[in-house]
Amino acid sequence: MIKSLCMAGSLLVFSGMAIAQKGKNPKRITQNETEFIDGLMAKMTIDEKIGQLTLYTSGWDVTGPSLNPTSTEELREGRVGGLFNAHGVTYVRGLQDIAVKETRLGIPLLFGYDVIHGYQTIFPTPLGEAASWDLDLMQESARLSAKEAAASGLNWTFNPMVDISRDPRWGRVMEGSGEDTYLGSKIGVAKVIGYQGDNLADPLTVLACVKHFAAYGAPLAGRDYGTVDMSERTLREFYLPPYKAAIDAGAATVMTSFNEVEGVPATGSYWLLTDILRNEWGFKGFVVTDYTAINEMVPFGVVPDLKAAGELALKSGVDMDMEGSVFNRFTKKSLEEGKVTEAEIDQAVRRILEAKWKAGLFANPYLYLDEKREKMIVRSQEMKDHALNAGKRSIVLLKNESLNGAPLLPISKSVKTIAMIGPMGDNQLDVLGAWHASGIETDVVTILAGIKNAVPNAVVTFTSGCGFEGDDTSGFAAARAAALKADIVIMALGENYVQSGEAASRTDIRLPGPQEGLVSAIMNTGKPVVVLIAAGRSLDLSALDEQVPAIVNTWQLGTMHGAAVAQVVFGDYNPSGKITMTFPRNIGQVPIFYNTKNVGRPVDLEQKYTSKYIDMPNTPLYPFGYGLSYTTFTYSDLTISQPTMLMADTISVSVAVTNTGKVAGEEVIQLYVKDMVAGVTRPVRELKGFEKIMLAAGESKTVSFRLSANDLAFYNQNMEFKAEPGQFEVYVGGDSDASLSASFDLK
Ligand code: NOJ
Repeated sequence: MIKSLCMAGSLLVFSGMAIAQKGKNPKRITQNETEFIDGLMAKMTIDEKIGQLTLYTSGWDVTGPSLNPTSTEELREGRVGGLFNAHGVTYVRGLQDIAVKETRLGIPLLFGYDVIHGYQTIFPTPLGEAASWDLDLMQESARLSAKEAAASGLNWTFNPMVDISRDPRWGRVMEGSGEDTYLGSKIGVAKVIGYQGDNLADPLTVLACVKHFAAYGAPLAGRDYGTVDMSERTLREFYLPPYKAAIDAGAATVMTSFNEVEGVPATGSYWLLTDILRNEWGFKGFVVTDYTAINEMVPFGVVPDLKAAGELALKSGVDMDMEGSVFNRFTKKSLEEGKVTEAEIDQAVRRILEAKWKAGLFANPYLYLDEKREKMIVRSQEMKDHALNAGKRSIVLLKNESLNGAPLLPISKSVKTIAMIGPMGDNQLDVLGAWHASGIETDVVTILAGIKNAVPNAVVTFTSGCGFEGDDTSGFAAARAAALKADIVIMALGENYVQSGEAASRTDIRLPGPQEGLVSAIMNTGKPVVVLIAAGRSLDLSALDEQVPAIVNTWQLGTMHGAAVAQVVFGDYNPSGKITMTFPRNIGQVPIFYNTKNVGRPVDLEQKYTSKYIDMPNTPLYPFGYGLSYTTFTYSDLTISQPTMLMADTISVSVAVTNTGKVAGEEVIQLYVKDMVAGVTRPVRELKGFEKIMLAAGESKTVSFRLSANDLAFYNQNMEFKAEPGQFEVYVGGDSDASLSASFDLK
């Protein structure tokens, strides 16, 4: 029992009351949050205070979870505020017991984890799921992954990752929403709401952590942890808004990024962590560093040693030190030397205690620890059903040419023989993608299993052909032989799960290993071939696009991968995904993104001295927002409600969309805006609205978007965020090349 925190015999006065009282050891706390935290802080020693600013990882050794002896010792001394990577109710309970029962003040721990696209049931990788353009779906994925993780003892996820990235060399593009600021902001908000719900003390929600603040997605040359260098204009206009949106949505925590911004490591940037985050945006939660990011300011060369690194971090606005142990080792000394103040330490402690209060942990440190609940929720049918739904809705049909007068996809279920070829075909691990938390590999429905289940009467053979690495082509012959015996070939290709994600940047973004060669070898058989790509990033698929009639970008869809893919391959689900990162023609075009700025010499193929390459078009292989369906859509009657808009007005832009094909389908209708003349250069077009609708065959619907001056605003020459009067062009269509346009004047 915690002697000092237990206030007997009165009412619990905070929002988590009802839920908290369902826990095993609810405490009766008479005070409000501030009184309680004031009282607690008055009892804390400086070591205990600094301890709250410390987050350690718990590793998993071969026989199960473990915490290293030093961290365990510090935990017993009340010098740890939270742990991450510890999960599973029994294990977490053991650690929480140490904090609650063995430390002097019994302050409960936070338990964090990288629940990025699921906990044990894995949903599509975030870049894949972004392709659904379905905010409700993404919110639901966040809600359910929070539910599953919280049921397993966790109360904090290190997500959403809202780093905008225009560079598919960077392996971490798989964790984000892609290249667009507007879409990325909406997705970040949906995820925060999904994770946190409306009550952080609900034991089925977790604290969200917006990361990586800031601009981590723009390392030079796409190399992870590399230098980030951009104008403040670009930073504010394209990179910062998703963090801000997620914070405005109530995200409880923010994680610093590994990179520098404006020459200062983000973890030591007062400008980012205090001026912008706290003073401009009013963020009230706590800031955790990324893994040992304080320590890394030494090799950055901005501080001479770890002690100085800790001082810079704390003074800049860091509250919690992830794994680096810099605060625990040096901050007391810094205080004694007058390099930091007790007020600075107190401020960080208070923010962390506030988060624990909001998570309901003071009322009940065991709130998230219920074995029965864990059994009921983790890996439940509810999770699997959602994984399947999210999976199929994330798939993007990139190409679907006709063979013998009909598009190759969907494949008829009366097909007799299928040759499944490729290293992803019978693979449970790699379709989970990077950052698959505690995803259970054996739960995964492989592509082969999904296909076989869908067509039980067909003969389906499998040959891997090659791996994802190296240059071993010895399996090509068997693969060709299998292809020759089949009516149709389905090739299952992609990246393995460590070929994207953290520390997985690539200089060659074609299919890795001998896979392109395998495609050519199979194409030579003359058989109809469908290629399924399960990768973390937008790859260079030019070699495939040249020769393969049907290409489906499935991403890595997690636990139900194969079942979701089969639904699309056989037409049980009509694909509706659209890519949210441009697919380049080759690596030399990278970074390539649709909302590039106007230039003085726009591309003109007839004119040499214009902005272009001499060996490759400027245009991508597949543009942002692109994706096909088994039906077709036409756009007409683009109407703007008024030709002139005043600054205070909201106008509406409407368009009729018709399903002109033979089957029902969903379309993502996208609205782009171009500011024709402004005081600073503007992008050639920018996404400002989208809506996904279902249309029956032959059906038409009118879709309307609203635009206000705020949607047209940008940072002017004085760095004020304002719209400027003048002409605006709007484009509406099914991708960022949309050509249907109309214009209006802003007065
Ligand atoms: C480093 C990664 O950059 C970050 O995203 C993650 O949350 C932490 N490690 C903790 O695993």
